[in-house]
Amino acid sequence: MKGIYEILRTKRDGGELTPEEIRWLVAGVVSGEIPEYQTSAFLMASVIRGLSIAETTALTEAMRDSGDSWDLSDLAPVLDKHSTGGVGDKVTLVLAPLVAAAGARVGMMSGRGLGHTGGTLDKLAAIPGFRTDLDLPRVRKALEEVGAALFAQTDTVAPADRTLYALRDVTATVESLSLIVASILSKKLASGTTGIVFDIKTGNGAFLKTIEESRALGRALVDTSRAAGRKASGRITDMSRPLGRAVGNALEAEESIRVLRNEGPDRIREICLVLGADMLAFAEPPLAQGVARARLEEAFTSGEAARTFERLIEFQGGDPRVVEDPGRLPQPRERIPAVSQTAGYVTEIATERMGFLSIDIGCGRRKREDTIDPAAGFLVEKTLGDRVEAGEPLAFLCLGDRPAPRAKMERELAALFTIGDRPPEIADLIREQL
Ligand code: URA
Repeated sequence: MKGIYEILRTKRDGGELTPEEIRWLVAGVVSGEIPEYQTSAFLMASVIRGLSIAETTALTEAMRDSGDSWDLSDLAPVLDKHSTGGVGDKVTLVLAPLVAAAGARVGMMSGRGLGHTGGTLDKLAAIPGFRTDLDLPRVRKALEEVGAALFAQTDTVAPADRTLYALRDVTATVESLSLIVASILSKKLASGTTGIVFDIKTGNGAFLKTIEESRALGRALVDTSRAAGRKASGRITDMSRPLGRAVGNALEAEESIRVLRNEGPDRIREICLVLGADMLAFAEPPLAQGVARARLEEAFTSGEAARTFERLIEFQGGDPRVVEDPGRLPQPRERIPAVSQTAGYVTEIATERMGFLSIDIGCGRRKREDTIDPAAGFLVEKTLGDRVEAGEPLAFLCLGDRPAPRAKMERELAALFTIGDRPPEIADLIREQL
């Protein structure tokens, strides 16, 4: 069999690797025998040359089998949602307690930020005391007692993905359908959940920007999950603007709480109702969408969704009083308006760039060792189609503890908004069902 140098050369030149070569490579990544510089070279060659379906399948299976597989079948159905990543995507924080409050078990293994997107684990970590390092017995207990668990990948579940994910994040090798599929599915298939709803983002804030690429990604995720014996469905949803007003960890935790308390932005509520209804239908087939949606709406209005989030926070070691009083979350030291120079309509928001800018002020990591500033972020005041007058704020720059070049950041934030004479065409929030 080829050694690592020949494997890299094959991929660099556009050749196809065998399943044995891929298994060997993944084993070497996990054991540390293959150093990070060679793993990074493999990732870059894979992004540039692409991986065939056979290579993608082999990579997914090798990554899944690189660690433990959890068995939650005695608690089934245990439902999961996975988003392919966006800016301001705080859906997990709302959806898990919401669906649990409506009567289904939800177990979600979440990740740290990747590329320009914020990570669910970092958003949860903004809640004082909240722990996501649950082992299998704790996850089982949370599912039994609370009905939901939000946890990080442990060291032993899909360890190959942990290593590759962290390297992709800092080597500009996220944007590959094959690497995304293998990353998502290796951990989903190892984490034992029995039904998965995929939220496939599309638009200028998603990893895959066109509807065609998003469709291909969604089909690959749904079909491969079904082939592995899971219930699976997908929705392609709009990511041509941040989801909701808040971008940044504590700000997003606060916005999620407001949605759970029935006070938050409509688009987050709507996406949670649609994805939540898909999850409930998996739990109780053949539950009709309308009936499932009514149950979720009831969970919002009765306060049960918010109470379930309190119980979940408490079970996971956090301060449940943040639900009653979000002021207990880390608060920005300063909120600086980024104002529009001209009057008109917001026709475009450079969403991916907003994600990267948020990393610059402490919302995410450029290097693995970087620390997060939980209070930092943006609050979007004007979104697509909104009318704005000259001098009005487009967004607020929220600074945490970290020093930042205020004036430059403020200018860059305002420059993410394109102002035109006419309102733009607005894409539907839920673009397609797979
Ligand atoms: N989410 C993941 O878990 N992995 C990816 O590669 C992209 C989004």
